Amino acid sequence: MDPVRLDVPTPSRAYAVTIGDGLLDRVGAMLDAIAAPARRIVVSSPLVWRLHGEQLSRAVTVAEPILVPDGERFKQLSTVSRIYDALVRASVDRATTIITFGGGVIGDMAGFAAATYLRGISLVHVPTTLLAQVDSAIGGKVGVNHALGKNLIGAFYQPDAVVIDPLVLGTLPRREFRAGLYEVIKYGMTSSAPLFERVARDRKAIFGRAIESLMPIISESCRIKGEVVAADEREAGPRRILNFGHTAGHALEAVTRYRRFRHGEAVGYGMLVAAELAQARGALAASDRQALAGVIASLGPLPPIADLSAASILEAIQHDKKIVAGTLHFVLPTAIGATAIVDDVTARELIGALRKVGTGK
Ligand SMILES: NC(=O)c1ccc[n+]([C@@H]2O[C@H](COP(=O)([O-])OP(=O)(O)OC[C@H]3O[C@@H](n4cnc5c(N)ncnc54)[C@H](O)[C@@H]3O)[C@@H](O)[C@H]2O)c1
Ligand SMILES: [Zn+2]
Repeated sequence: MDPVRLDVPTPSRAYAVTIGDGLLDRVGAMLDAIAAPARRIVVSSPLVWRLHGEQLSRAVTVAEPILVPDGERFKQLSTVSRIYDALVRASVDRATTIITFGGGVIGDMAGFAAATYLRGISLVHVPTTLLAQVDSAIGGKVGVNHALGKNLIGAFYQPDAVVIDPLVLGTLPRREFRAGLYEVIKYGMTSSAPLFERVARDRKAIFGRAIESLMPIISESCRIKGEVVAADEREAGPRRILNFGHTAGHALEAVTRYRRFRHGEAVGYGMLVAAELAQARGALAASDRQALAGVIASLGPLPPIADLSAASILEAIQHDKKIVAGTLHFVLPTAIGATAIVDDVTARELIGALRKVGTGK
């Protein structure tokens, strides 16, 4: 299929996101075409490098890759420090492009290293999970976790390019693949009824990783994320709609210490909570909430939540870092493809919605 090219003109930097099967073979040529600094160094994880490193290294002349572990628990400053050590040892200078090659954890960590090493060197993302391809590689958020909270340390640092090859998803475990699909549903619910309907309709082919089914859902998700980010690079306003499902989602992740859910799974629940709340307010039709619940259920079972109390989740919501000056901005769905941001959601409404979705008392 022909590659799709999307321009992301953020105030700090304009760049292209290119999506196409087989693009991994063209990374070197694509970087040459945008005159990315000629020395190239890859940061990846041992697993991703073992699966796809040979293909990438045929396409782009790179020295030894820098390999660091990519579990969420390694997403911390000590791992970034290992990346710095390797950059210094390799005498990496400003004439170098860092290529991140992995999921969101690698992209966020190596992106943060690129943002800070020598006060910033050229960065290109080559994401290898569905979540990274539709979400984390675009928009410039980079960073790591602190022991007391997720993503507390970071920067906005846009890449020079994002190169997406959906064929690398062929090796992604099914659970990781599903985790990315919940974010695709998020884009559909907030911004595009056709995307939402496509996921519902093409589910089987999407799970089969058929390229003609993956291309449209990845491109459409990237288009939405790119547009939102270009309009609001630093999340002062419109970018907040991408937090749909993330208020309750982050709280679920926090109360289970980031061990029970893949991020996307928690967002799956979070979207259901927002939809219950919206329906209870009369802001969302029951049939639209049911359509959302139906698609989420069709992807497969989510981890259990009956043992988690609604009160503990509410408490975690109240600690969320996205509460600005004491106000919780809550993204409510108002139809498939449309949202409203409200700031008057009460604790009672949240408790009610959480219980409807299946949490304990
Ligand atoms: N920067 C942003 O805007 C943004 C947005 C959303 C999420 N994030 C961050 O992204 C992270 C989650 O990213 P993720 O879901 O990609 O998880 P991840 O990076 O941990 O990758 C998940 C697993 O998949 C493996 N993997 C990666 N590519 C593979 C492939 N092609 N085949 C087989 N296995 C492969 C990895 O080794 C890892 O074990 C979180 O830390 C989250 O905070 C950032
Ligand atoms: Zn997310």
